[in-house]
Amino acid sequence: MGTSQSDALVFFGATGDLAFKKIFPALQAMVKRSHLDVPIIGVGRSAWTVDQLRARARESLEQHGEADPIACETLCRLLHYVRVDYADSSTFQALRKELGGVEQPLYYLAIPPSLFTTVIEGLAKSGCLDGARVILEKPFGRNLASAQELNRTLHSYFTEQAIFRIDHYLGKESVQNLMYFRFANPFFETGWNRHSIQRVQITMAEEFGVAGRGRFYEEVGAIRDVVQSHLLMVIACLVMEQPSGRDYESIREERVKVLKMIRPLIPSDVVRGQFRGYRREGGVAPESQVETFAALRFYIDSERWAGVPFYVRTGKCLPVTVTEVLVEFKRPGCPVLDEIEPPLPNYFRFRLSPDVTIAVGATTKVPGQAMVGKRIELVAQQCSGEEMDPYERLLGDAMNGDATLFARGDGVEAAWWVVQPILDTPMSLHEYEANTWGPGEADRLIEGDWHNPSG
Ligand code: BG6
Repeated sequence: MGTSQSDALVFFGATGDLAFKKIFPALQAMVKRSHLDVPIIGVGRSAWTVDQLRARARESLEQHGEADPIACETLCRLLHYVRVDYADSSTFQALRKELGGVEQPLYYLAIPPSLFTTVIEGLAKSGCLDGARVILEKPFGRNLASAQELNRTLHSYFTEQAIFRIDHYLGKESVQNLMYFRFANPFFETGWNRHSIQRVQITMAEEFGVAGRGRFYEEVGAIRDVVQSHLLMVIACLVMEQPSGRDYESIREERVKVLKMIRPLIPSDVVRGQFRGYRREGGVAPESQVETFAALRFYIDSERWAGVPFYVRTGKCLPVTVTEVLVEFKRPGCPVLDEIEPPLPNYFRFRLSPDVTIAVGATTKVPGQAMVGKRIELVAQQCSGEEMDPYERLLGDAMNGDATLFARGDGVEAAWWVVQPILDTPMSLHEYEANTWGPGEADRLIEGDWHNPSG
């Protein structure tokens, strides 16, 4: 599978929620940048006409996209619609017909994971898979065994290079910059290890609750929803070694190596919480044991990182919506001149969202006679948001066959391997009040204090 451009984009789930919120806006943005000029075939189970799909696209762009009448109309002209009954493989013939002479279609499965196999088999039986690539959305399974099963199914129809697993965190500018900033600045490398770094904290806080997605959330919980995927990827980007080549496989290889070196969790590394009121959400069981908060401690068993704790916290209904990484260095060994205490440790602060910041914590002298220091922060970069929406970026890359920012099958399995032991063990669940930083029990997990990022 080369890196030539796909000559049609076929998205399953065209009438669904993901298409409405994310896919149409990303497609419009691609059209606007002249990155998309091929047939876009929406597939769904409803008996829609193409005009209904176009109306849906316009409505989606009004609510979730930037107003751009010209790009919107160009997108609408590229749209086609095909009705397929996923359970009846003969109905895939309509899609085969619509594809005509297309040689390298990209299939985007924006549908529930339980339908992946049925749809892929339907595509195979109707002769739609020649030269094809496929995009899948997480969750990639719900544990190690089901992830392995999914990979087996995918690999019986596609090469790994033709499979594009979306973890939209990898599509974020700020997460790419974690890698770029490190490798572009060699001063980093001398101290980027267990000799200089005391600990790392990663916080992904969300002020909102499950936002009407109670039924979905009951199936996953915080650990499956964002830790096994997004937050382990953030760790991988933060600590991976410099890739040995420029090709995308070398970059993915280094990320996967990190995931394979993360020590599997044990129950004492984890505190689970649930916000008060979660059980009254629609679709949530009255006795639900699903966590909406998790605090975790990871270790990486490599020469460079041995012994450095990586503290990760995520939760719904926390005081702010923000994702931030704090890399704290060891405290200097002795005071400066006649000061009594050594200065505070240096840190790097990477704010990944909603805005993007890279900052360094340092100590300078307070102006005046006395030799005393004060904490300052040097801000290396600050911008208000994403240059390009992650979905636009990732869809464009998949169209071009560039898998750099996609999860690889063995990496997904390695990440499940890390969390699997705690999925298999019944664990306590602590209630916390909305608008707090989670249950007090999380404080016992960390040596020192949690870093609570500002909103
Ligand atoms: C999704 C999770 O993958 O990521 C959601 O399913 C979560 O629960 C979301 O809210 C967060 O993404 P972002 O880009 O808003 O930080």
